[in-house]
Amino acid sequence: MGPREIRRGIHWVGAVDWDRRLFDELIPLPDGTSYNAYLVRGSEKTVLIDTVDPTMTDLLVANLDSLGIKALDYVVANHAEQDHSGTLPDILAKYPMAKLLCTPKCQPMLVDLLAVSPDRIAAVEDHATVSLGDRTLEFIHAPWVHWPETMLTYLQEEKILFPGDFFGSHLATSDLYVTDEGAVYEAAKRYYAEIMMPFRTNIEKHLERLKDYLIELIAPSHGPLYSRPGFILDAYHSWVLDPPENTVVLAYISMHGSTRRMVRHFAQALVARGVSVKQFDLSSADIGKLAAALVDAATLVLATPAVLAGAHPKAIYAAFLANALRPKTRFATIIGSYGWGSRLKEQIIGMLPNLKVELLEPVLAKGLPGEADFQALDNLAAAIAARHEEFKAA
Ligand code: FEO
Repeated sequence: MGPREIRRGIHWVGAVDWDRRLFDELIPLPDGTSYNAYLVRGSEKTVLIDTVDPTMTDLLVANLDSLGIKALDYVVANHAEQDHSGTLPDILAKYPMAKLLCTPKCQPMLVDLLAVSPDRIAAVEDHATVSLGDRTLEFIHAPWVHWPETMLTYLQEEKILFPGDFFGSHLATSDLYVTDEGAVYEAAKRYYAEIMMPFRTNIEKHLERLKDYLIELIAPSHGPLYSRPGFILDAYHSWVLDPPENTVVLAYISMHGSTRRMVRHFAQALVARGVSVKQFDLSSADIGKLAAALVDAATLVLATPAVLAGAHPKAIYAAFLANALRPKTRFATIIGSYGWGSRLKEQIIGMLPNLKVELLEPVLAKGLPGEADFQALDNLAAAIAARHEEFKAA
C-alpha cells in the first residue's frame, strides 16, 4: 500500500501488518495491525510523525521515496515503543539533517532503546510549537498512554490530532478511515482494555484536556483514522467514566468436570436473576476478548479446581491479568472444586490488590458439587444481583 493523501501535503506513509498475530509475544492480534506514520509538508519545513515497526522499515522508506522526499527537517516521536520508533535509526541515517522531537522523558529512552545519538534529539515542552511555515505543530504531553514518555501532536491549522497509541486499534485494513464503526468499536475497545485501561486515571485527565482543542480528524498510530472524532472520544468517555454494567465475567477452567458443573449452574442462576454473563473457558479463551469484557463488567468471578493445593495455573494467569488491567469492576469472588486441602481462595484473593472490589464469599465444593453447593451458588448469584441493583440505584 503506497502513500495515502489525507489533506493537501499530508500523507499516511505507514505500513499495514496483515499477518502479525501476537504483540509483545503476549497480546493476540486476530485482525493484524498497522503502524501509522504521517508525513506533513509545510511551506518551509517537512516533518515525519512517528515511524513503523522495524520489520517494515522498507515500506516506510518506499513510501517516502515515492513521494520524492529528499530531506526531512523534523521527525516526531510521540512514543518510544519500538513498533513506532524502531525505524528511527534508519530514518535518521537516511535524512542526516532531521532533528528528532520528543518529550524530555522520551529522549533518554530513545538513546537507551535504540542507540539514537543524543545530539540528534531535541526535547519539546508541553504545549511547545514548531512552525513548518504555513502549518504549526503543537505538542501535548500525555504521560501514560501507555508509557511514561508519551505525547500527542496537534496540527493546529488542519485541526488534526496525531495521538500515538491513544485511541488506536489493532486492525489491519485497506480502509484509511473508519468505515464500519461497529467493527472498529470492538477493535478499539479491545485495544483500550489491553493497553490503556491500567491508566484510566491519566486517560480521564487527557480526555478533559482535549476538550480545549477543536479536532476534525484523529490519526492514531494503529488502525484506521477517525474522520468523526466524536465516535472514539465518546467511546473512551464511556469506557473510562461510565459506571460498570450489570454483568458478570465468569472466567473458568475445569479438569474433571466438577467446576464446570458449578459454572453451568451458577451462570443459569445469575441469568435467572437478571444478570448478564460473559463466560470464558480459560483453557482456550482469547485473552483480548476477556480483557474487553472486563471494561464494563461489575463483577469478576474466577472458577477453578485445586491443583497442587492452589488454583489452576490458567486461573492464576487470569487473576494476574485482571489485576494488571485494573478494570472498574466492583465485586469479585471465586468458585470451584477441590479434592483435599486447598489454599486457592487465599492465593487468588492475594493476587487482586489492584482491584477496588468487594470480595464476596467464595463457594468451594469438596469433590463433586452437591445440593448444598448448588444452594450456595444460588445464594451467591442472589447476592451479586442484589449488589448490582444497589450500585445502579446509588
Ligand atoms: Fe503501538 Fe505502545 O506501541
